[in-house]
Amino acid sequence: MPVMPAALDPFSASTAASTAASPSAANAAVVTPADCRDAGALTVLYDGACPLCRREMAVYRDLPSADPIHFVDISRGALPSTLPAAVSRDDLLRRFHVQRADGSLASGARGFIALWAALPGWRWLARLGALPGVAPLMEAAYRGFLRVRPTMQRMAAAFEPSTLHVPDFMVAELRSDHAGETGAVWIYRGVLAFTRDAGVRDFAHRHLATETEHLRLISPLLPWPQRSRLLLPWRIAGFMTGALPALAGPRAVYGTIAAVETFVDTHYQQQIDRLCGLPEAEAVRALLVQCQADECHHRDEATALRGAPPGPLLRAWCVLVGAGSAAAVVVARRV
Ligand SMILES: [Fe+2]
Ligand SMILES: [Fe+2]
Repeated sequence: MPVMPAALDPFSASTAASTAASPSAANAAVVTPADCRDAGALTVLYDGACPLCRREMAVYRDLPSADPIHFVDISRGALPSTLPAAVSRDDLLRRFHVQRADGSLASGARGFIALWAALPGWRWLARLGALPGVAPLMEAAYRGFLRVRPTMQRMAAAFEPSTLHVPDFMVAELRSDHAGETGAVWIYRGVLAFTRDAGVRDFAHRHLATETEHLRLISPLLPWPQRSRLLLPWRIAGFMTGALPALAGPRAVYGTIAAVETFVDTHYQQQIDRLCGLPEAEAVRALLVQCQADECHHRDEATALRGAPPGPLLRAWCVLVGAGSAAAVVVARRV
């Protein structure tokens, strides 16, 4: 494919770094019919950390092409030495890029048009892009996609299977862990919604950060279809478990957290024991050990802050909280 002179190509090698983020320059791009003919080997630079990009490139990679197409994951490892020194990884990750055989770069809609031109079955799309006014429209659509890409990436990632090995028998347990960590996050939101005590608020803010991190760590182990379908009730239950003692006072909050974490410690320990002797599940076991250590720290801190042993009313509440946590685990394992 004859390549546009660098001066006219907003994504040419010499200008890629400065124009990749320049809307006006990209909109000025004009794709000619000559752009839509094959130009020898093409290097496709894609974000391998993005589940959307990975799936799309898997489709292209399986298609026959007139000339070799090299697919390079630019999310990790060294960048191709053929790239201009001024082009950074961040520049490349910001938009889709291809590098033509002559070294020039094309990004966004122009990049896709160059790729489609190299795939005989998709060349009609490249020719469509060469029609007057179509490339800017494609570019506008691509920019619209970039705005929603982070949300779509999160949704796609939620449906991806875990990269860690999760034994089949652990799926139900992890479903209960994910539900439990969701509930834990909402316990502290409930506390924070109703307490004005500075000490309790500090305690809740710190623990909320840890529980949010637990949820972030456990979520990738469990694709969306395998998660509990009762997450909304778990959130409400968690919020109430935090809100009610917050209304009663700091001792009730600390007593409640000590009761919850006592149960969670046992729950995690049972899973850790089941994973012992399974080297292929060591990463999952290590993650649970890490979470358990945090829960034990939460329990010990709450117990120390609670002070004297609880009276009959708080003791009864804590028994109820422990029993409720156990019942929630039984349900979350199944639903
Ligand atoms: Fe947690
Ligand atoms: Fe915790």
